Amino acid sequence: MRAMHCWTGQRPGLRAEPALPVRRRWLAAAGTLALLQGFASYPRVWAKPESSTGARLAAGTPSATALGAAMQRALHQIVDVPRVLDDPLAVRILGADAASALQAAADRPSRGLRAYIAMRSRHAEDRLAEAVSRGVRQYVVLGAGLDTFACRNPHPGLRVFEVDYPATQDWKRGRLAAVGIAEPPALIFVPVDFETQRLPDRLRESGFDPAQPAFFSMLGVVIYLTEEAMDATLRVIASCAPGSGITFSFTEPPSRLEGAALASRQRSMAAMAAIGEPWRTFLEPESVPSRLRALGFSAVEVLTPKQANQRYFGGRVDRLRVPASSHMATAFV
Ligand SMILES: C[S@@+](CC[C@H](N)C(=O)[O-])C[C@H]1O[C@@H](n2cnc3c(N)ncnc32)[C@H](O)[C@@H]1O
Repeated sequence: MRAMHCWTGQRPGLRAEPALPVRRRWLAAAGTLALLQGFASYPRVWAKPESSTGARLAAGTPSATALGAAMQRALHQIVDVPRVLDDPLAVRILGADAASALQAAADRPSRGLRAYIAMRSRHAEDRLAEAVSRGVRQYVVLGAGLDTFACRNPHPGLRVFEVDYPATQDWKRGRLAAVGIAEPPALIFVPVDFETQRLPDRLRESGFDPAQPAFFSMLGVVIYLTEEAMDATLRVIASCAPGSGITFSFTEPPSRLEGAALASRQRSMAAMAAIGEPWRTFLEPESVPSRLRALGFSAVEVLTPKQANQRYFGGRVDRLRVPASSHMATAFV
């Protein structure tokens, strides 16, 4: 109820909704399934997938999980004090009809997921700022979804390449236009399917300069790729100019979980498969440094959930925390 109060308090133009119907309360209680709430307001995204084997994107439907992540970032702006990520466009990009969906998603069980989604963007933006201070002027957001960084880019001279599945990108551009957020001149859209298209060619054709260092982020994407596509994408970055780097998020495999955590993961995996965006690739944190070095990176840092909680959530009275199996890695060429 606190969340709803915050919502109505901060957005006086939006009406509070009556109590959630039972089915939606059940959805909220299912943790990660909170991602899916409110999709009915976005008919194109909520189109039924062709099958449960990753066919949503292949069928030309925008990513539903991109909308889910954007909703969690928007919610973070509204209900969490202090914010880990300041994103003044996070609510706006969703449009006015997101109000009731955001209220529904405000139920407590999605807090860990919300913390993780806010933290990973903040961490990527912090690492990007460091790269910019070292002279990097190209930022590539892989699997950008509804990420708004490019539209609030504070770094003069930084070009931002947003790479995403063509249908998701098309839909995002439609959303930007619909809510009146201008596409800045420094933003270049690069439609790519990581599973079937060559990223270096598509980047070069879009004006990316391979002779200059670049920073990349890939947030909430690895889990949806095949291992082959993940490795191929990381290998491309490892072959970029010296000074280049990437920050990406990854999740531990279900084999590391037990009890309630395992049951919750299994429910989430079934839900993601059912909407046509199955979780496919998990990484053991201990294996990440050697894997990235084998792909060509020279330095690798892993940010564990414990470290993330100390760095970004220390001293909070609301005990907002990232979940135990959610990691970040940063690697440099
Ligand atoms: C969970 S969303 C994350 C979006 C964004 N990074 C964020 O944090 O809000 C996953 C994103 O990966 C993209 N994606 C998944 N598989 C892809 C593929 N094979 N090629 C290109 N993009 C893909 C989706 O279109 C979607 O935008």
